[in-house]
Amino acid sequence: MMLGIIIVAAGRGERFGGEVPKQFCMLGEKQVVEWSIEAFRETLADAKIVVVVPSEYADKVSYDGAIVTAGGATRSESVRRGLEALGETDLVAIHDGARPYISPKLIERCIEEAQEFGSAIPVVEVVDSLRWIDGGALDRGKVCAVQTPQVFRGDILRKAYRETKGEFTDDATLVEAAGYGVHLCEGDPKNIKITRQEDLG
Ligand code: CTP
Ligand code: MG
Repeated sequence: MMLGIIIVAAGRGERFGGEVPKQFCMLGEKQVVEWSIEAFRETLADAKIVVVVPSEYADKVSYDGAIVTAGGATRSESVRRGLEALGETDLVAIHDGARPYISPKLIERCIEEAQEFGSAIPVVEVVDSLRWIDGGALDRGKVCAVQTPQVFRGDILRKAYRETKGEFTDDATLVEAAGYGVHLCEGDPKNIKITRQEDLG
């Protein structure tokens, strides 16, 4: 079973602001993106890892045990370029480089459930109350917040990305748009996405 990992880290971090994109800022002794590269490398020693970075960083950064490639203007375009650099693998895990708190346990759970069900999308309960901006509340028990890593059978993911145009905020949405079902699994409330300056403490 060949595993491929794509860490998408080619965003500009508009909500975060600042000179340096959030994924390259320091969090303790490492860059934000390095925490997830190391978590995957240590948990899945035989996996092939691709890190997708903004094009102007592609020649300037390198990470042990990973292939670096240039991303695109949207997340979906960055994933497409990551898939090209990765080549064929049985399973592909796609992870936001802006989620440094990913744990080995969550990685293992997503891979195991994807082996069983064909995909695994980690989700957590929503703890805030939710409202439509135009008025009226949503039942928060009927929705969940979606995280990464999202893991798919490689053939299905590649076919979905070949055939589906448009921009999606995650891979599960694109795979569903291509007509495939996705399997939800238990996420981790600690696995937050660094979004604003305050998230780095
Ligand atoms: N991403 C990417 N290529 C893009 C846009 C986003 O690889 N063109 C990556 C980001 O680097 C991040 C993940 O997709 O790891 C999720 O994106 P998000 O948190 O939305 O990051 P940004 O788009 O950089 O930030 P924001 O939307 O807050 O401006
Ligand atoms: Mg974004």
